[in-house]
Amino acid sequence: MPDLFTWEFATDPYPAYAWLREHAPVRWTRLPSGVGAWLVTRYGDAREALAEGRLSKNPAHHVGESRGKTGIPGERGADLMTHLLNIDPPDHTRLRRLVSKAFTPRRVAAFEPRVRELTDRFIDGFAGRGEADLIHDFAFPLPIYAICDLLGVPAADQDDFRDWAGMMIRHGNGPRGGVARSVKRMRSYLVELIHRKRGDLGDDLISGLIRASDHGEQLTENEAASLSFILLFAGFETTVNLIGNGVHTLLTHPAARRELQASLARGESALLESAVEELLRYDGPVELATWRYATVPLTIGGQAVAPGDPVLVVLAAADRDPARFGGPDTLDLARRDNPHLGYGHGIHYCLGAPLARLEARTALATLLTRLPDLRFAGDPAELRWRGGLIMRGLRTLPVEFTAEPSRGSRRAGDGPSPA
Ligand code: HEM
Repeated sequence: MPDLFTWEFATDPYPAYAWLREHAPVRWTRLPSGVGAWLVTRYGDAREALAEGRLSKNPAHHVGESRGKTGIPGERGADLMTHLLNIDPPDHTRLRRLVSKAFTPRRVAAFEPRVRELTDRFIDGFAGRGEADLIHDFAFPLPIYAICDLLGVPAADQDDFRDWAGMMIRHGNGPRGGVARSVKRMRSYLVELIHRKRGDLGDDLISGLIRASDHGEQLTENEAASLSFILLFAGFETTVNLIGNGVHTLLTHPAARRELQASLARGESALLESAVEELLRYDGPVELATWRYATVPLTIGGQAVAPGDPVLVVLAAADRDPARFGGPDTLDLARRDNPHLGYGHGIHYCLGAPLARLEARTALATLLTRLPDLRFAGDPAELRWRGGLIMRGLRTLPVEFTAEPSRGSRRAGDGPSPA
């Protein structure tokens, strides 16, 4: 049995996952926090477990040493929040239906010009320097300002969100004071904003949430605040790492990257679209799906699971299962048969997938087009991964490139800036 959760594992978990898939596909494992959980690593079992109605998302079902650590900051403690990722039907069905009425693919598609504008603005911020930390300067600020805009957080307040989000990403999901404080501030801000907007509805997503109703039933202010928070939280670090891991993969696969650049130069979009899916499959941001708990005795992949046992589906392992993917350890940007689980599966399937795709495509295409000789600054073997349980992402991604000639007018203080 290989060691899990070490530094080497965080750098490259795939050999350990291959071992688990082959020898112990549903394995009881003690996590660094001391909590035990079943790790599910085969594609077929993973897909079934994600859609299994007898696995609850509600931490109250957890029987064990430590309850309810699902990796979402703010969910424990005084203002524990009910949100999509820790509730079951019928509550989940109702909330998801309501939020889906406001957070529509059409709204996301209409947001494309703004995503392009933000992408260019952040690249403008470092393109003249010839070097950057792509996490700090680009992958981090882009999704936070994008989701703030989409929600309708006034521009003047968006830097606060950047700071709170920075605190959350730097200090992970632990119960440390700074993170709890940031979550609390974000939450009280959102509650207040929703209250204010109720009297003055606009076109933004929060106004859409307030307006959404189902059989005459509307979201309460508290529910609207929790949903806005989960959109921010679920859509933030995931997108940072989709861009970060994606660029990292492209820089370590020069032939694939050249092919993608050539296709972008021809103005094509098909390879870019399949590339983003393949980057998610190959080294996606969500390594493990969020926590699930057995509500009754059941079996997963032939293994008996007792009521109250936590189950963690290892998306990163399932997406490299040779039983489902040909050449699973090979990056194939043009892969056609690619039903990866990077966005999950079943009723909790990622609600933000259209926005994630839009941001990832725009970010990667613009970077590769504007900075065609983008390369690692320093030895990529020295890069440090965050080593969290649920998310997989780099701490920093130093790059260099031929500096763009000055594009002129951007001054310090013009619009959003990195942390
Ligand atoms: C960037 C890449 C992203 C990836 C790889 C990703 C991945 C996932 C995964 C795997 C799940 C299911 C978790 C589980 O079942 O345990 C999920 C759920 C969710 N995602 Fe994403 N996500 C991304 C971006 C976003 C964005 C941009 C948003 C919103 C702005 C978002 C909002 C959500 C929400 C609200 C859920 C919960 C849905 C539910 O429980 O019904 N995600 N995501």
